[in-house]
Amino acid sequence: MNDPLAAAALRAREYAFAPYSNFKVGAAIEDTEGRIYTGCNVENATYGLTVCAERVALFKAVSEGVRQFRRVAVAADTDRLTPPCGACRQILWEFCGDVEIILVNPHGKAETLRLGAIFPRAFDASYI
Ligand code: THU
Repeated sequence: MNDPLAAAALRAREYAFAPYSNFKVGAAIEDTEGRIYTGCNVENATYGLTVCAERVALFKAVSEGVRQFRRVAVAADTDRLTPPCGACRQILWEFCGDVEIILVNPHGKAETLRLGAIFPRAFDASYI
């Protein structure tokens, strides 16, 4: 797939620290200025302290003051393309709403969907 955001997620996946699951994930998020922030999963011997690639990428951007996002890409080496986990869907919704998400694998398979399609009836600040 000839998309710089998908390519960035695939590249970020190479940095995954996943010695426990051996399941490497990369993510990339594009802000409304076109800047790209990347992340990989970072595991921990406690298992529970593991942080997913999506949250690493998003928090890198948020911690640099970015608040508006256009697209997210998630890369893993699965034939059935890997979607964000439930926790990441909630965190992505907080900052990105019904954002476009590209799922890719290193073998050229890709799919584009919107967060709302895999995270319907999300709870957010509009209820508070
Ligand atoms: N993981 C992610 O980083 N993102 C996902 O979308 C799914 C799961 C990570 C967490 C853990 O390090 C490994 O994949 C196996 O669950």
